[in-house]
Formats: sequence, structure tokens, C-alpha cells
Amino acid sequence: MNINGKTALYGIIGNPVGHSLSPVMHNAALKALSINGVYVPMNVESVANAVTGLKELGFNGVSITIPHKETIFDFLDWIDPVAERIGAVNTLLFQKNAEDNLVTTHGFNTDWLGARMALADHVTLKNARALVFGAGGAAKAVAYGLHEAGVKVQVVNRTEDKARELASWLGCGFASYSDLASIQAEILVNTTSVGMVPNIDETVIPPELLGNFEVVMDIVYAPLQTRLLREASQKGCIVIDGLAMLLYQGAAQFEIWTGQRPPLNVMREALEHELLLRENI
Ligand code: ATR
Repeated sequence: MNINGKTALYGIIGNPVGHSLSPVMHNAALKALSINGVYVPMNVESVANAVTGLKELGFNGVSITIPHKETIFDFLDWIDPVAERIGAVNTLLFQKNAEDNLVTTHGFNTDWLGARMALADHVTLKNARALVFGAGGAAKAVAYGLHEAGVKVQVVNRTEDKARELASWLGCGFASYSDLASIQAEILVNTTSVGMVPNIDETVIPPELLGNFEVVMDIVYAPLQTRLLREASQKGCIVIDGLAMLLYQGAAQFEIWTGQRPPLNVMREALEHELLLRENI
């Protein structure tokens, strides 16, 4: 990498960010397209200070992660309507006005696109049915993306009231855990942290019910092969691992920042390679 005065600056702000996979993914993409740019992780306490600093330093764009996806709203000059509807921003683009050198901050959300693109590779979304586990920020983005693509979405969550709230916000269906045995759908998505290390023996649904679904997607990527995906494979379902949504939301960010078509294969390989390295530490 040849860093010089023309190197475009990208990064991720969050707290913590030490384990983020975004730097390897975006740096691999920049390198593959011979773009003179670099993407760095930045641990940030104060979003206000960070935005001022990033603008002053000439950053082109950053990813936003937990816990700043909502607090960033106060520091934007323009908000993408979908990000506004979802209530979370995961991507910033800084634009400098050539006349007065003033930098404006634009906020987007690409999480909803990530989920939808990951699934669209494997199933026709229009008129498909989906059962989405969870009612947090990830569930909101996934449910929104699918609903907008014409999927009939039902959400189910440990805390039922939160699922009811999400369903009424989106205008989609709601299910209780006690309904699970009677639900059939083309798509099942886990957006909860169930099955993530260290609780790798946990899953959101009894394996005997997995035959009621065709495609099963998990957004957990540590481990990559969750109990849910392993059992879904055994039942003959198509499975989509947690790197898929991460990859596609990152690809959409890359396109916003560079205007170039993201090198998906390179980005996916970089993510897989990094996960392997971490497993062997
Ligand atoms: P995110 O923004 O990543 O979605 P979040 O807002 O903390 O994170 O949401 C986490 C989701 O995982 C919630 O739906 C949570 O269920 P509750 O609303 O009942 O808390 C779900 N979740 C986390 N641990 C869980 C567990 N052990 N069993 C079932 N659901 C769980």
C-alpha cells in the first residue's frame, strides 16, 4: 500500500471496533480496484467530536456501528429517507463543496440492502413468506428490506412486546413462540445473537421445525456454521451464513463512497480469510 497526500480516507467508528471485519473487507476491495485509499477502525466515544474531526481531516466516508447508529442523526446535513424511516445510519459520506470548501455529512443505511441482497441470491422475494427472529436494530433493517421487496414478513421475539412494536411500525405480521410449529415460510432469518460464541449450542428454533422453511439465513458469523445453519442443512434447507449480510451491506457502502462496482468475490474471500486467522489465534 502506497499512502501519500492523495490517499482517500475511509473507516469505521464505533465502540468497540477492535473486532470489526469491515477493515479487511474494504481494504481488500480498495486494493483490488487499485484505488488509492485506506480504511481504518476508530474507537469513538463522542460522535460530535468524531464528526468534526473526520470532516477536518478530509475523510471521504465512514461506516457507523454500535452504539452510534442512532446518535449520529444529530450531526447530519442530509439523511437518506430509508435511513430516516429505519431510524439508524450505518454509512456516512462526506462531500466538499468546491466553492466554499464546506464539508457536508450525508447519512445512509445499507443494512436493509445487505439482508435483502443476500437472500435474493437464493430465493424469489416477491410474495415469499419470511419468519424473522428478533426485534432489535438488525431485525428492523432485515424486516424492512424484505417487506419492501414484497415479502410477507412475520416477526417473532423473546420479548413479545418488542416484536409487536416492530410489526406495527412496519405493518407486517407478528408471531409468538407458541405459534412456531404452525408456521411455514420460504425464508427464516435469525437476527438475534442466539448461537453466537460462546453460546454455540443455542438455537432459535427446534430442529424438527426446520423442514417448514426453504432458505435459512443467520446473521451470526462467529461461528460461521451456527447450530441453526448446521441443523437447517441437515433438513435440506439452503443456508446463508452471517458473512453474506455483512458483505452486501459493505458492498453497498463501497459503491456509495467510490461510485465503483464492488469486487464481491475479493471482499468475501478477505472476510473468510480473516475469520480463519482469528479461529487459529
Ligand atoms: P441488534 O441491534 O444487533 O439487533 P439488540 O437491539 O440488542 O441488537 O437486539 C438483540 C435481539 O436478540 C433482541 O431481539 C433480543 O431479544 P429481546 O428483545 O427479548 O431481548 C434477541 N436475543 C438476544 N439474546 C437472546 C436469547 N438468549 N434468546 C432469545 N433472543 C435473544
